[in-house]
Amino acid sequence: MTKLVYVLNGPNLNLLGKRQPHIYGHETLADVERDCTALASELGLELRFLQSNWEGQIVDWIHEAREAAVGIVINPAALTHTSVAVLDALNAFEGTVIEVHISNVHKREAFRHHSYVSLRADGVIAGCGTEGYRLGLRRVATLAQG
Ligand code: DQA
Repeated sequence: MTKLVYVLNGPNLNLLGKRQPHIYGHETLADVERDCTALASELGLELRFLQSNWEGQIVDWIHEAREAAVGIVINPAALTHTSVAVLDALNAFEGTVIEVHISNVHKREAFRHHSYVSLRADGVIAGCGTEGYRLGLRRVATLAQG
């Protein structure tokens, strides 16, 4: 049976490749989705790759994942540093949660050093560029093998 994984992306990540490329690189979110989809099929995972600029939509997708998915790879973007709602939703999810940041948030402004999501995440990947998503998928696959 294929194992479903949600890859969730928060606010402004639709502009990946266009916004602050010196920080986030030149790859677009479509490029990231393509690479994640290719890896997922190698790993025997089925992907649902989603992005929203709306906090409530991210919460709804986490709820959707509850009954369906073995894991969530999430780049909550700015919601990382602000959203108790996203944390509470993730706390209601029983599978693996991997938090991904393209940039190394710890080398950046102090307000980026705190993550609500890290209070739930099983693993955190920061500063590995968009490869972080694929590292996150590999981790979900490993843990899903049980
Ligand atoms: C980010 C880091 C966040 O601080 C920022 O708000 C983002 C992207 C990253 O991928 O490096 O939008 O999550």
